[in-house]
Amino acid sequence: MDSWHFARTGLAQKYLDVLQLGISSSLAIIAPRRKGKTLFVLQDLAPLAQEKGYLPVYASLWQNLNAPHEGLISALENTLAHLQEKPVLTRLLQSKVRKAALGNELLGKLEIEFADAPMAPTSGELAYLEQLLVDVEQLAGQKTVLLLIDEVQHLATSTHFSPLAHNLRTLLDQRQGTIKSVFTGSSRHYLNLLLNEANSPFYHFVEQVDFPDLGLDFIHFLVNKLARDFHIKVELQELDLAFDALDKSPYWMMKLVARLITSQENIKNSLSYTLGLIEATEDFAGLAKTLKPIDKLLYLALGTGKNPFGKEFLHEVEQKTEVKGVPGNVQRSLQRLLEAGLISQTYKQGYQIEKPGLTRFLNQP
Ligand SMILES: Nc1ncnc2c1ncn2[C@@H]1O[C@H](COP(=O)(O)OP(=O)(O)OP(=O)(O)O)[C@@H](O)[C@H]1O
Ligand SMILES: [Mg+2]
Repeated sequence: MDSWHFARTGLAQKYLDVLQLGISSSLAIIAPRRKGKTLFVLQDLAPLAQEKGYLPVYASLWQNLNAPHEGLISALENTLAHLQEKPVLTRLLQSKVRKAALGNELLGKLEIEFADAPMAPTSGELAYLEQLLVDVEQLAGQKTVLLLIDEVQHLATSTHFSPLAHNLRTLLDQRQGTIKSVFTGSSRHYLNLLLNEANSPFYHFVEQVDFPDLGLDFIHFLVNKLARDFHIKVELQELDLAFDALDKSPYWMMKLVARLITSQENIKNSLSYTLGLIEATEDFAGLAKTLKPIDKLLYLALGTGKNPFGKEFLHEVEQKTEVKGVPGNVQRSLQRLLEAGLISQTYKQGYQIEKPGLTRFLNQP
């Protein structure tokens, strides 16, 4: 039985072309959570890059939330060991690596996305990082190093991480010919802070590229696989509608498919099971409790593309909440939603909601 991975080689080629043409030596792929970024980078981009003569190095800045430099250091150490054909020496990291997970074991994990005790790298660690990069670059020979840095928005979540951000920018800037980089990030808000704020080290350094949603060809692939390997017949259109209802997240789509296979239920039931799973995993009920009435209204309004400062919305606030429908209140509410990562603001698209499933939850009677 072949894998469930739906290859996106064409997309990987497109990104490599941008790097190849010298338009930019650094790209940022931006998409919300659970859209398939990491899998794409590991299974499509890295292998194709390798084929084309790059030396891909993958690092996740979430390896240690409190010390993102450790993710970079261990990725470079592993690459170096590999190039020197040495067994991987696992360095004793100063602080414990911990990717915190809480929540209900059965439902999956609710990942913590922010550091609770952020640490700046020491000057020794920064020097070590640079040395590793120099060594890898040298041993790579003719190959161009392709640094794949996942969860890069993390650099903008604490001022303790600014030295690392500045350092990284300088290291990459000095080596635009021999090291290229692809950043991935899942929070448009923090990525925007990292890439588009004039005082950020990455301002104008990185070319932002869209990460398109998976389309009908992905659904087609699933339909065929279900039929061939599991003798489960589903209608393309019905499965595609379910994919829409899951906000085109492949992560949740695969949960639905797993449910289809194990429970022998139809799509409708598997979908409502999966929607329930989303609600519980993302803890929408808990989230909703942290929101003030104006925040809820604002979230829903942004979801439908309303102008948050328009007369219509201000009137709605006045009518439905205890606070006055004035721009100042809307501004404070926007700030709360931004800081909670529930919405994002970008220059191109204005305010956008980040958790579409929450809309469905808040709209429930
Ligand atoms: N191309 C694909 N083919 C099949 N399944 C996929 C594909 N892309 C993603 N998935 C499914 O979605 C899951 C989530 O993907 P991935 O971890 O890459 O998303 P992500 O965007 O990096 O998420 P996060 O924001 O949580 O880091 C995968 O484990 C896999 O089950
Ligand atoms: Mg990921």
